Amino acid sequence: MRICFATNNLHKLDEIRSVAGDQFTILSLADIGCFEELPEEQNTLLGNSLQKAKYVFKKFGVICFADDSGLEVDALNGAPGVDSAHYAGPQRKADDNMDLLLKNLINIENRGAQFRTIITLVTPTMIKQFEGIVRGVITREKIGSAGFGYNPIFMPDGFSQTMAEMTMTEKNQISHRAVATHKLISFLQKKDEPILS
Ligand code: IMP
Repeated sequence: MRICFATNNLHKLDEIRSVAGDQFTILSLADIGCFEELPEEQNTLLGNSLQKAKYVFKKFGVICFADDSGLEVDALNGAPGVDSAHYAGPQRKADDNMDLLLKNLINIENRGAQFRTIITLVTPTMIKQFEGIVRGVITREKIGSAGFGYNPIFMPDGFSQTMAEMTMTEKNQISHRAVATHKLISFLQKKDEPILS
């Protein structure tokens, strides 16, 4: 089975390929000849994930899925959420985003937060969405360097390491994207009719 993952984030591509194993060939955007920024103009994870997947399917005619993810902090009523990538400004720098978040939480005891992702699958006959959540806490400083984004300040519940101290294999056992990806894969496996070429 060949299916495109509509993302320009190579970290995400690696993560999803490793979760999917060898039962699916996950094509990158480059593999299908797409070398452009995908539109992401909605104000929800559901909306952005749908917009990206539909855009690629319509323009390139390839069955695909897209994700949109964000960090939702309890004490900030779910912020930065859909604005996670550019929380500290249009430069979209992970360090700036983390510094601002740590500053905004400086005197806050409630450190609860979650990563949430929505994956949208688009095929010629249907659109289907899958959600994945991992709960955790925001640390008081950055620890570790693996992966991307807010990994150094997010410690999943039940762990004493941040996501940036985990190997990809460890992160993939618990991450929001892994949870949503497993739902996508089991959906594809259960389909009676083959929907993919
Ligand atoms: P995106 O729009 O799905 O690319 O995600 C928006 C932002 O959320 C990213 O730029 C990261 O800052 C953050 N993010 C999403 N997933 C993760 C993750 O697995 N680890 C750390 N940060 C993440």
